[in-house]
Amino acid sequence: MNDFAFDIWYFATLSGDIKTGQLIRIEIAGQPITLGRKRDGSVFALRDICPHRAAPLSAGQMKGDTVECPYHGWRFDADDGKCTEIPALCSDQDMDVERIGVRSYPAREQGHLVWVYIAADPKSTAPPAVQPPYFALAELKPVMRDGVLLNCHVDHAVIGLMDPAHGPYVHSQWWWRSEKSMHEKAKAFEPRELGFAMARHSPSSNSFAYKILGGKPETEITFRLPGIRTEHVRVGKKQLLSFTAVTPIDESHTQITQVFFTDIGLIKWLRPVVARFAAAFLRQDANMVDLQQMGLKHDPRLMLVDDADTQAKWYHAIKREWAKSREEGRDFVNPVKARVLRWRS
Ligand code: FES
Ligand SMILES: [Fe+2]
Repeated sequence: MNDFAFDIWYFATLSGDIKTGQLIRIEIAGQPITLGRKRDGSVFALRDICPHRAAPLSAGQMKGDTVECPYHGWRFDADDGKCTEIPALCSDQDMDVERIGVRSYPAREQGHLVWVYIAADPKSTAPPAVQPPYFALAELKPVMRDGVLLNCHVDHAVIGLMDPAHGPYVHSQWWWRSEKSMHEKAKAFEPRELGFAMARHSPSSNSFAYKILGGKPETEITFRLPGIRTEHVRVGKKQLLSFTAVTPIDESHTQITQVFFTDIGLIKWLRPVVARFAAAFLRQDANMVDLQQMGLKHDPRLMLVDDADTQAKWYHAIKREWAKSREEGRDFVNPVKARVLRWRS
C-alpha cells in the first residue's frame, strides 16, 4: 500500500541537523533524499541516488554550491539538480552534461523546522500547490526534541497519534491518566486548513502534567495533512508549542518527531523531567504499534467507532479529498464540518 499524500510539504528535520557544507540522508514517502545547506545558508534537497551508477550523493561532499558524487565525482547543482561536471570526460569529448540531472525537491526552512515538498509527478517543476505550515513559536530555539521510529504505515501512526481512547490503557501510569479517572468528554472541533482543530479549551483536571505549568492553561490542538499535530498551550502571556510530525519513511516505517518550543522559562528548567515524560509516551506508543503489527500482518478488517474514532475518519477523508482535488485540478474542499465529539477517556 504505497498510499502516501503527495503534492504536499513533509516535515524533514530540524534546522540544527543541517550544517553548511555537510550532507545528510533522510527518506520521506519512499524517496531517499539528501539535504544540505548552500553557502548562503539556504537548504536544498536532492534525490539521494546518483543518476550515473546509483551511489548515494549524501556520501559525497559539497563543492561550492554543487554536490559531488563520492563514486566518480560527477557534480550536481544544489538547486536544480542539473549535472555541472563529469570529471572523466576528456576535453574533446563533447557531451551535454546539463541534460543529465537528479531530481530536486523544493525545500523550505521556517523557524527551526525544515520542510520538503514531494510532488506526485517526479518530473514536475511547477511551484508547490500549498505552503508549509508556519508556527511563530518555532522561531525560538527548540527546548526539547524527541523521536521514535514506528514500524507501521503512516496511516496507523497518524491515527494512533490522534486517538483519544488509548490514553488510559497505553499511557496509564501514576503521574498520568488512569482507567479510574476516565470520564465523558465533549470537545468542539472545527475545520482548519488541510485539517481540523479542537477549539481552545482548558485541559481536564486529571492531566497532572499540565499542572506543573502553573496557572490555568488553555490548549488548542490542531491536525493537518500529511501528519502534523500541534498542541498550543497558553498560560497568561506565555506559550508552549508541542509540535509533532508524522513522516512516512516507507510503507512500513514512520518517523515521529516531537519538538517543544516555549517562552516559559520554567519548562526549560524542567527539561530533564519533561523529556523523560515525552520519551516514555513515545516508547509506549511504539510498543503498542509493534503489538498491533502482529494482528495487522493478517490484513484483518478494522473498525472505526464514533465518536472516539471520528478524527481517524476525518484523516482518511481529508487525505482522499486532497488526492482527488489534485487529480481533478480543483480546490480542496475540507470534508470536516464543525461539531462536538464525545467520548470517554
Ligand atoms: S555513481 Fe555517481 S558519479 Fe558515478
Ligand atoms: Fe499515544
